[in-house]
Amino acid sequence: MTTITVSASNTYDVSIGAGLLSAAGATLKSLNDGKVCRVCILSDDNVWPLYGKTVSEALEAVGFSVLSYVIPHGEPSKSIPVYADILNFLASEHMSRSDWLIALGGGVVGDLCGFCAATYLRGVKYMQIPTTLLAMVDSSVGGKTAVDLPAGKNLCGAFYPPHGVLCDTDALDTLTPSIFADGMAEVIKYGFIFDRALLELLIRDRTAFDRETVIARCIDHKRRVVEEDEFDRGVRQLLNFGHTAAHGIEQHSDYSISHGHAVAMGMGIVTRAAEAAGLIASPFSAMLEELLAAFDLPCDTAFTADAMTEAILSDKKRDGAVIRLVIADEPGHAILWPCPAGQCKDFLARGIGGHA
Ligand code: GLY
Repeated sequence: MTTITVSASNTYDVSIGAGLLSAAGATLKSLNDGKVCRVCILSDDNVWPLYGKTVSEALEAVGFSVLSYVIPHGEPSKSIPVYADILNFLASEHMSRSDWLIALGGGVVGDLCGFCAATYLRGVKYMQIPTTLLAMVDSSVGGKTAVDLPAGKNLCGAFYPPHGVLCDTDALDTLTPSIFADGMAEVIKYGFIFDRALLELLIRDRTAFDRETVIARCIDHKRRVVEEDEFDRGVRQLLNFGHTAAHGIEQHSDYSISHGHAVAMGMGIVTRAAEAAGLIASPFSAMLEELLAAFDLPCDTAFTADAMTEAILSDKKRDGAVIRLVIADEPGHAILWPCPAGQCKDFLARGIGGHA
């Protein structure tokens, strides 16, 4: 097992290893100063049948009293009505400030549970138990919690770090290839923005890479960034490589295109656009495209930049008249490039449809 300690507005451990779901009870008890309490597990209808029993039994075995709330899987559940239903459920069960929430699932469950934890009774403690690769390497760490609004993804949320994170690498065994690939888009993202050696490892090992090592390596990048810029005013924004176009693609597809696949498309689009604009000294979009293809990820969209405009203009990376786009200017290094909001659509359009 690998443990990474994140020291931000609160300090918490992220544990990565095989078989950790069955350690959920002992872990939570130690996080709660050796005391037991009531716990509500938020999960979805894909994950709960697979892992709900294991986690509930692990908690009950050490004395916790367990409630559960299971939502339909998928991005549409990350909404104000579902959020309100969960809060009403917690209130109807008289969950108190000394009780805990647990997010058992992927990014949707984690973001939603975190936002419930941030706001129910003005804040209760919560543990993240991510079961997808994407949630392990990115969304479960760092405390970004959110729901979507009709105007865009993650437009309502709070920074509210978890009080512990358990990544059981065995949970990856039950992911569909497409959901595993979603997480690989974020792993490849870390490589392009921070870690050329990680890219070399992925090129060499392809899907045979050691999971604990690679997940821990990505989480350690996230730790470093969150410790330096928890509230997303500077270096943390580099984690959004590919995300401005991705949010437009996700929203325009009514979320039928998943986050990881949209991020892969977004990375391809912004990199080709940056090459076309002369912002990259030695072009490497072919290397990015090849790596994405090796993990069955797309690198382009059939949508036009026009179709994505609305979401691009309400993107959180907007700062007044400027949208800070993340450009990997060489493999393993990225910059924030201020693109005038009025030119963003035309800039991204240069990266659409141009790949080999
Ligand atoms: N997912 C990007 C971040 O946590 O900042």
